[in-house]
Amino acid sequence: MRLFYFLIASILVTFVWGDPLGKKWESNKNCEACHQEFSKRWETSRHANAHYSKNDLFKKSLEYIVRKHPTLVLDEVTIQCAQCHNPRLTKRHVSNEEKVGLLFGDQQTQKSFHKMLDNVTMKNGINCMVCHNIDEIHLDKKKGSGGMKSVKFGKQGVMFGPFADAVSPYHETQQRAHFVGNKPTLCFVCHYSYKNKHGLEVYATGKEYEMFKEGEEGCKDCHMSKPYKGYASNYVPAGEKAKSRMIRMHRFASVDNSNILNDFVDVKGRTEGNKFVITLKNHAPHKIPTGYGLREIILKVTFLDKQDKVLAKKRYVLGTKWGDANGKTTIPHLAVKVLKDTRMDGKSTNAYKFPIPQGAVYATYSFSYRLISKALAKELGITDPFFLKEYTFSEQRVHL
Ligand code: HEC
Ligand code: HEC
Ligand code: HEC
Ligand code: HEC
Ligand code: HEC
Repeated sequence: MRLFYFLIASILVTFVWGDPLGKKWESNKNCEACHQEFSKRWETSRHANAHYSKNDLFKKSLEYIVRKHPTLVLDEVTIQCAQCHNPRLTKRHVSNEEKVGLLFGDQQTQKSFHKMLDNVTMKNGINCMVCHNIDEIHLDKKKGSGGMKSVKFGKQGVMFGPFADAVSPYHETQQRAHFVGNKPTLCFVCHYSYKNKHGLEVYATGKEYEMFKEGEEGCKDCHMSKPYKGYASNYVPAGEKAKSRMIRMHRFASVDNSNILNDFVDVKGRTEGNKFVITLKNHAPHKIPTGYGLREIILKVTFLDKQDKVLAKKRYVLGTKWGDANGKTTIPHLAVKVLKDTRMDGKSTNAYKFPIPQGAVYATYSFSYRLISKALAKELGITDPFFLKEYTFSEQRVHL
């Protein structure tokens, strides 16, 4: 029996799997000598942590999905999610035969899958070669982001980029429109929108952007940087002068590697009669929080009396709650409906009111962020402090 599955799996291995990236292109380390600043910055980004071996939340989510759906096999789910999380994966579907091989613990099938899912390229996440080897983008917005299904990769070793006249001793270069200017086309390959298998939309940053944006502001201005004068490479051929260029920082700013919330969200507290009012002004062209559906922005107010004794503590959470068929809270990828959505729209201002208790003289208020709600972190069994931590962006004390 095993032999039979092994044979089928081997035949499929030969015909279905494409070419993996060669040694010269497998990770950002291949680029670092000549693009040091780009490589170092990128390493601080979530793009560098997209593989499950480097991301406790992603890994536990995959395991949770399989725990809740015993008919699914872990590698099968991993491959579905890889189209955006690990787009250089050489495989797009798992055949029934392979699934049976995996379920029966066929060693050969397991080994081939692990070789494919755990190699250097995969562990390197959404790396230089994911973006800079994209030759064409064909995004069908009605279907949402398809990750690697929405792109055509170029020949290995061709770097597509913003310049028409770049020359490199290591690789070919070609200009592509999706790197020029400020359009979000490249980001939309994965960040436009995504529906789970129940047809429920679980991320929609690009859609939100189209709804709320004003003018020509793109993702790059905030999440990379405004263009500034610098060098695209620290490699200069002997006898030549380095070319000064307009470049952008490769930081892919998120809450954990930047000050993006302070930079683009204003927070102000004031007294209005018997209420304490916190006003949030969102300059981002998408909702906040956007993206992954369990992010939370938390407003906290503490009222104190003359002696600084705490009289009351209040909090308000901006975020989404997802429900399964029984109305119980679950993760976005398994949900059939949205139970509650208290996020703020893009480019909008909201006021949150908290009643001031008798005798209150001072108030402290803070604005913080969680990558995943406390309750669901517990349900998933998250242990990495990176995801359990609360990121506080501002904290103030006022006389009422
Ligand atoms: C031996 C040095 C060297 C190595 C290694 C190297 N590059 Fe380059 N790269 C260059 C030089 C030089 C340029 C041109 C700079 C200029 O014209 O300002 C360049 C340009 C680029 C551009 C801009 C292309 C365009 O047309 O806009 C991209 C993108 C790029 N490299 C990506 C990479 C990636 C990804 C890797 C690793 C797989 C890599 N490079 C490895 C030297 C190198
Ligand atoms: C090939 C798919 C893909 C492309 C293209 C892509 N991203 Fe991402 N991006 C992801 C995935 C997947 C994550 C989540 C990674 C993780 O946390 O494991 C992510 C995370 C991020 C984050 C961090 C969000 C957080 O969790 O805090 C930012 C910011 C971001 N991307 C911005 C961009 C911008 C800007 C562009 C366009 C220049 C872009 N991305 C292009 C797939 C992509
Ligand atoms: C999520 C997609 C993405 C990833 C990953 C990525 N880049 Fe880029 N890269 C871009 C975009 C977009 C631009 C064009 C920026 C602009 O408008 O100038 C760019 C531009 C460049 C340039 C030209 C200089 C500039 O800033 O315009 C170089 C060189 C480069 N990238 C190298 C790298 C290297 C090396 C890595 C890996 C460490 C990498 N990139 C990873 C999206 C990406
Ligand atoms: C005016 C600045 C601005 C622009 C333009 C902008 N963003 Fe953001 N973005 C933010 C801020 C601020 C946050 C942090 C709040 C949050 O998590 O929603 C954020 C958060 C994110 C996150 C991460 C949420 C998380 O899970 O941590 C992603 C992904 C993202 N943006 C993608 C995009 C994409 C894609 C575009 C372009 C279509 C874009 N952004 C345009 C300011 C901006
Ligand atoms: C269409 C592209 C796409 C597909 C397919 C996809 N994701 Fe994502 N995923 C993203 C993007 C883009 C982000 C970044 C958004 C953000 O961080 O706010 C992300 C973020 C996440 C995060 C948060 C990671 C972190 O570091 O905080 C988890 C968990 C996640 N996805 C799980 C999954 C699972 C499980 C699947 C498969 C069932 C899946 N995703 C399929 C695009 C995709």
